[in-house]
Amino acid sequence: MKTVDIIQAKELLLKGEVVAIPTETVYGLAGWIYSEAGLRKIFSTKERPFFDPLIVHIDSIAKARTLSGDWSPLHQALAEVCWPGPLTLITKKPEGLNPLITSGLDSVGLRCPNHPLSLKLLSQIEGGLAAPSANKFGKTSPTLSQHVFQEFGEEVPILEGGPCEVGIESTVAGIVKENEKWKVLIYRPGYFTAAMLQKILSDKNIAATVEYATSPVAPGQLKHHYMPNIPLVITSESFNWEKQKNEIEKRLNKTFTKPAFWKLPDDPAQASRELYQDLRKFSLEGFDLILIKRESLHDSELWFGIWNRLEKAKTLKI
Ligand code: TXA
Ligand code: MG
Repeated sequence: MKTVDIIQAKELLLKGEVVAIPTETVYGLAGWIYSEAGLRKIFSTKERPFFDPLIVHIDSIAKARTLSGDWSPLHQALAEVCWPGPLTLITKKPEGLNPLITSGLDSVGLRCPNHPLSLKLLSQIEGGLAAPSANKFGKTSPTLSQHVFQEFGEEVPILEGGPCEVGIESTVAGIVKENEKWKVLIYRPGYFTAAMLQKILSDKNIAATVEYATSPVAPGQLKHHYMPNIPLVITSESFNWEKQKNEIEKRLNKTFTKPAFWKLPDDPAQASRELYQDLRKFSLEGFDLILIKRESLHDSELWFGIWNRLEKAKTLKI
């Protein structure tokens, strides 16, 4: 594994190279927002299509304001409470921001990650770092530096920051005004739920509703994502392997001899922290199928982010 320190990471980034950086959610593949070469390298390394916009990472609200074309009191209120932390705020893009970052959209996602090493690195960099998750496009996101190494080998230098605490990507939220009323729309569920964001705004006496968006604004929210190397099947609570094995084999047109029965921990914070690592583990341990039960305990909002990822990672649902 090729690891670098903050000084080396900064030098590489300013030269137009990419560096894997730790965050509290997942490792990111960072490029400097003012380096066209660095931005291009993010897409080529990940084999990511240009229509999927990148999140810009900054270390302070002050920097976010300089990178936003319409920073509102709602952005300010949410950032004050949630940053540094797993919330990406969509704002109007400022003039001159490289369109590679925004996929030509008029908006940009800004996020202040809660990891001491990346915050220190960001504090020494003009502007910010564009960073998608450090995995090949469509594959499972990395929560350990070893995952980044398994994905890219020596090609990508890594700022080692230990295991990611949250484990799934940030909540992505945008702010819109409809009929003179403010509304916060969640485009990607994550650690911060609608109820939590609503409470933050209410506590600050800001009149706004918080909802989950029903249609994606960014083309990056594809149906298939986070996919493991073996099929993942989501089943109902009453699922029985002996009885329903044939049905699965018929539908996937394959026979399975070593299924993994995946039981999520009851605590959603732990489930989210371990999610991607477990997803990778099953394919490495020689299983040929992963089965996971959707239990009624998973209906609470704290599980939305986890099931959003599992639904996109699945091959089949029965
Ligand atoms: O936790 C995270 O957010 C991680 C870490 C590395 O910070 N990053 C991450 O990046 O998840 P990525 O590229 O895997 O996800 C970026 C997603 C896009 O696919 C899109 O859904 C949303 O963020 N996004 C980015 N810019 C947007 C915009 N202008 N409007 C709407 N959604 C946007
Ligand atoms: Mg990703």
